[in-house]
Amino acid sequence: MPRVRTAVFPVAGRGTRFLPATKASPKEMLPIVDKPLIQYAVEEALAAGVEKLVFVTGSSKRSIEDHFDVDPELERTLAESGKEDLLALVRNIVPSHVNCIYVRQGVPLGLGHAVLCAKPAVGNEPFFVHLADDLIYSDVPCLKQMHDEFQQHGYSVLGVETVPRDQTGSYGIVGVTNDADGRQRIEKIVEKPKPEEAPSTLAVVGRYVLTPAIFDKLERTERGSGGEIQLTDGIAKLLEDEPVYVYRFSGTRYDCGSKIGYLRATVEYALRHPELGENFRAYLESVWER
Ligand code: G1P
Repeated sequence: MPRVRTAVFPVAGRGTRFLPATKASPKEMLPIVDKPLIQYAVEEALAAGVEKLVFVTGSSKRSIEDHFDVDPELERTLAESGKEDLLALVRNIVPSHVNCIYVRQGVPLGLGHAVLCAKPAVGNEPFFVHLADDLIYSDVPCLKQMHDEFQQHGYSVLGVETVPRDQTGSYGIVGVTNDADGRQRIEKIVEKPKPEEAPSTLAVVGRYVLTPAIFDKLERTERGSGGEIQLTDGIAKLLEDEPVYVYRFSGTRYDCGSKIGYLRATVEYALRHPELGENFRAYLESVWER
C-alpha cells in the first residue's frame, strides 16, 4: 500500500471572522498558547510521516513562509545569549529532510480549487489535506490514525464527527452505509446542507486522505455552495468511481475558525501545558470565585 508522503495545507482564506486580528496577519498564525495553529497542523502531519508540506497560500500570508524558514539572525542572537532551549524551539520546527512548497491560489475560488492548485506539487500520489482551523487533540495524532486506516485498503478516508443537527449548515455532511468488513462507506456527501435536508449529522472535519483521482474530478467541478468550487463536490464525483470511507477519529476537536472554539482551545491547551498548567488552573479557580 502506498505511504502518504505529502500534506496539503490550504491557507489562502482571509479569516474574516477574526478581523481585525487577521487584517495583516494570517488566521493560521493565531497562537494557541505559544504556537501558531499552522505549526500544530504541520506537527500533526510530520507525526503521520510526511516528507513534503504543500502550503496553498494567498495574499498577506508571508509570515507563514517565514515561520517555517530558517532565521539565521534570530538563531545567532539566541546562540550568543546562551538561550539553547529557545534556539531548539525555533530551529527544529521542520526537520531538514522535509520539503516545504508554497503554491499561490491567486483567486479565492474555494477549498476544492485550493486543493487543485496543489496538484503539480503533489503528483500522482495519495495525500493528506489538513485544515488548520480544526485543531484536534489526541494521543495518536489524527492524521496518523487516518493513515493507519488508509493503509488497510488504499482508498480515500475522511475524518468525521457527529454534530448537532442545527449545525449541519457549517459542514460537509455524509450519508454512509456499513460495509461487510465493518467500515462505513460514503454513499452521499453534501456541502453545508440545511438541517432538514442533511442526509445525517455526520460532519466532515478538516482531515482528509485523498487518492490523486480527486484532481480529475476537481477539474470538472463547477462552483457550488457559496459560489465556490467545493472539495465536497469533487468527492461526490469521486464516489462514482471508487469507494470513500469515513473515519471516526479519537480525540477532541476545537473549531478554531470560531471565536468560542478558539477560546476553548486556548484554555484547554493552557491547562495541559507542562509549564503553565498548574498556575493557570489556580488562576481560573480564582476567577470563578470572584
Ligand atoms: C470546510 C469544508 C467542509 C468541512 C469543513 C470542516 O468548510 O468545505 O466540507 O466540513 O471545512 O471544518 P469551511 O469551514 O472552510 O467553511
